[in-house]
Amino acid sequence: MKFVVAIDGPAAAGKGTIAKAVANHFGFSHLDSGLLYRAVAAKTLKGADPVAASEALHEDDLKADNLRSPEVAQMASKVAALEDVRLALIDFQHSFVQQDGGAVIDGRDIGTVICPDAAVKLYITASPEARAKRRFQELLNGNKSVTLEAVFKDVKERDERDVTRHASPLKAASDAITINTTELTIEAAVKAAIKVIETAFERTKQL
Ligand code: CDP
Repeated sequence: MKFVVAIDGPAAAGKGTIAKAVANHFGFSHLDSGLLYRAVAAKTLKGADPVAASEALHEDDLKADNLRSPEVAQMASKVAALEDVRLALIDFQHSFVQQDGGAVIDGRDIGTVICPDAAVKLYITASPEARAKRRFQELLNGNKSVTLEAVFKDVKERDERDVTRHASPLKAASDAITINTTELTIEAAVKAAIKVIETAFERTKQL
């Protein structure tokens, strides 16, 4: 059975953490689609053409060092606005969700464009301030030297670019369930997501 959970939302809203935790809870596989755009961005920063880089992308590229850096994140949101880059990355994402068993995939356009028929669609959001604070903490824990102001600016710039771009802009699918994590602990957010998925999963088993 292919049971797909699509998770979208703006930068640093907690999508990745929630996606990993629910995949672990249900024994589903997980793909962070942001890594595809970050891997293309890392190659672009080294001088590659973004479209050629996305067409030649290999699974191993997702394990490259430094994909989490703010420079790569900024470039990722620039290359992600290119229609041809997005088109080149569709097959990889579709093959991933075609595997047997459940799959969780998180990104910006998963519920709207990549998996419009997903069994569950979640839209994870939080205030820009809360998101910047969390990303700042994550980067500090990863020993990156950053300031909260710089992280806030990065998050706002990427949100703006992701929401306003022509190609697959960030937006909640009309049938997505929104979880606002501003006032939630990560445990509470994961619990809320598990509850939604559990209900949908039980329903599918009864079909
Ligand atoms: O972890 P964070 O939410 O900060 O970013 P990410 O999910 O790794 O995505 C990095 C950038 O890739 C985003 O700012 C988007 O521009 C782009 N992206 C996208 O356009 N579509 C996706 N499905 C995933 C990421």
